[in-house]
Amino acid sequence: MSRQPLVAGNWKMHKTVAESEAFIQGLLPRLTTADNVDVVICPPFTSLEAMVDSTRGSRVEVYAQNMHEEGSGAFTGEISAAMLSELDVHGVILGHSERRAYFGETDEALSNKVVAALEAGLAPMLCVGETDEEREAGTTEDRLRIQITEGLSRIDDAQLASVAIAYEPVWAIGTGKVATSEQAQEACAFIRSLIAERSEEAAAAVRILYGGSAKPDNAAELLALADCDGLLIGGASLDPESFGDMVAAG
Ligand code: PGA
Repeated sequence: MSRQPLVAGNWKMHKTVAESEAFIQGLLPRLTTADNVDVVICPPFTSLEAMVDSTRGSRVEVYAQNMHEEGSGAFTGEISAAMLSELDVHGVILGHSERRAYFGETDEALSNKVVAALEAGLAPMLCVGETDEEREAGTTEDRLRIQITEGLSRIDDAQLASVAIAYEPVWAIGTGKVATSEQAQEACAFIRSLIAERSEEAAAAVRILYGGSAKPDNAAELLALADCDGLLIGGASLDPESFGDMVAAG
């Protein structure tokens, strides 16, 4: 089964609405009309509506960086899946390691967020990955097994391929220390084998992305890996030229 590559830019807490507009006006002319790569930008909440409007009719899809698992309620500062889909946002990053580390995101909450996103028609991108200490201790696969098993525990096998999974080793995020091709391939293949334990069909279809210091000069090598179907890019996605080059590598 051929899986269409997905190249996504996670802007984190960068770019005002004006800066987001400047980015997209810089990016759109750089994208070819060929649609053999799915292109996603993940702006902050405040830029979502503007980016949906500015990318309408283009190849670019807009994802949020987080959402709450409940439909509504007394959760000050949070955003629900329905609020995102009302804006025609296409998907949502769930469980980024910064959310897990700084905001107490748990696998339990993520399992509910995956369900809530799918019910609202949003494409979830579930992030997983081990810390430096876990890799040193040889427990990378244990960590990935827990995150994948628990995060996807509340959806049916038939829904598994609707979730994109981003393998992002925590030690590679924002550090300039990219995983080697062998490390990235090994982890992406292991994640696919975990999906295969539930459904071979879903494992063949599910998209698994690599993230962590991906840059224009290593994008093509990472995208060529057998089990790597895309990239989740932080720092290098903030500039339209660098992000456009990485889309072109897909
Ligand atoms: P980075 O971030 O590309 O800046 O390492 C990746 C991510 O956090 O998704």
